[in-house]
Amino acid sequence: MNIAIASDHGGFELKGQLIEYYAKKGIILQDLGTHSTESCDYPLIARKMTNAVLNKEADLGILICGTGIGISIAANRVKGIRAALLYNAEVACLAKQHNNANIVVFGGRTQKFEDVVSYLDAFLNAEFEGGRHLRRIGELDE
Ligand code: RB5
Repeated sequence: MNIAIASDHGGFELKGQLIEYYAKKGIILQDLGTHSTESCDYPLIARKMTNAVLNKEADLGILICGTGIGISIAANRVKGIRAALLYNAEVACLAKQHNNANIVVFGGRTQKFEDVVSYLDAFLNAEFEGGRHLRRIGELDE
């Protein structure tokens, strides 16, 4: 699975931690920026990621801003994107099982690295259930 990651300055530190953690496990996260702690605008970062996901340059995106809220709002304005802000392991599973999220979102200033990793693991180990959920996610883009 090809996974991309991007953040604004509010998520820069967490992005670096996740890239390092997964690299040690042999998983390379494609870094779409930002590349410093200099202030930048989360809608533009979200757009980079939504383009990558819609163009199939990434199977899954990870987006991070300070709270995860602004960048979720931005990503979910794009047709075809289902961005889910993950805040516990159960929600992480359901974001895959019911919503087949193609972007997962975190808050760099509001969530701990260890928790984020556990939510990501839960998401990655879950399977989309299809059926009525397939119909519902189809309705999102009608
Ligand atoms: C940036 O200061 C901050 O507003 C942004 O990272 C995010 O939390 C917005 O929702």
